[in-house]
Amino acid sequence: MKILAYGIREDEKPFVKEWEQENPEVDVEITDQLLDDETVAMAKGFDGVVVYQQKPYTDTVFEKLDSYGIHNVSLRNVGVDNMNPATVKKYGFKVTNVPVYSPAAIAEFSVTQLMNLLRRTKEYFHKFERGDFRWAPQISQELNQQTVGVIGTGHIGRVAIDIYKGFGAKVIAYDVYHNPELEKEGLYVDTLDELYAKATVVTLHIPLFPSTEHMLNKEAFDKMRDGVFIVNASRGPLIDEQALIDALDSGKVAGAALDVLEDETKVFNHNMVGKNMTYPEFWNLNSRENVLISPHTAFYTNIAVQNMVKFSLSANKDLIETGTSDKLVKFD
Ligand code: COI
Repeated sequence: MKILAYGIREDEKPFVKEWEQENPEVDVEITDQLLDDETVAMAKGFDGVVVYQQKPYTDTVFEKLDSYGIHNVSLRNVGVDNMNPATVKKYGFKVTNVPVYSPAAIAEFSVTQLMNLLRRTKEYFHKFERGDFRWAPQISQELNQQTVGVIGTGHIGRVAIDIYKGFGAKVIAYDVYHNPELEKEGLYVDTLDELYAKATVVTLHIPLFPSTEHMLNKEAFDKMRDGVFIVNASRGPLIDEQALIDALDSGKVAGAALDVLEDETKVFNHNMVGKNMTYPEFWNLNSRENVLISPHTAFYTNIAVQNMVKFSLSANKDLIETGTSDKLVKFD
């Protein structure tokens, strides 16, 4: 059995090696190249491919894989928003993802960034660098005083809720699917409008679908409390960036922590030093003392990367051996 793993970074290599030692019957080859129209030819002769990338998987990639007789594709991440479900289904691909590699990695990061917003760390840091060690006027807020509105109560949202409860914050939650435990605790509100009306913090932990794109838009911000904090470590297009900029200008939004951006794929995880970066919304947001931008790093921990590599290789092996996997993505 032969698996080709695309886009393997240096930090992933030790985990690929470990997995190979645990699965000596599988021949794994790696490349640092991403899977695209040019590199797809490298997959000829393999039984399956393991991939991770933020740029789109084109229809041509699927057509070519199909022509090589390869139908087993395993993603090392959770989001499947960069592939076309119609194409996947048309050619009969089996796609797996890693739905749970470390919910704590992302939940902990989003809480950390909220704490940084509340304690105005970026402002203090800049003052400190200038040699200004005064306290005022950066008086801060406490997490235990917040009503945190968690949108999305899947694996990540649930870990975030536990952490927020541990800090003594009041938590309310919204999801179309109700988790029975949280239901018992009475955490759910019935509508997003209710969450917007009550929350002093809105944190997103949902996937990107056509139905969730720009869910935080002008109308949503208008319904929120004045001085609300926004946290997004899910997907950039969940927020209409121009609407966020307007809401920051008006003071409706007191601060935002963004680990993801609408148009991030061309810049995040690239070395942009000395390069011209045309992204007006990024520059606008990043220039603000009350906006924290990080380059999609919430997931990036040793545990998460290990699990992404090993779980995806195992899922690909399962697909090749048995035709299915417990990580099979259902595209309907
Ligand atoms: C995902 O797992 O879908 C993520 O967003 C993390 C990715 C940047 C590796």
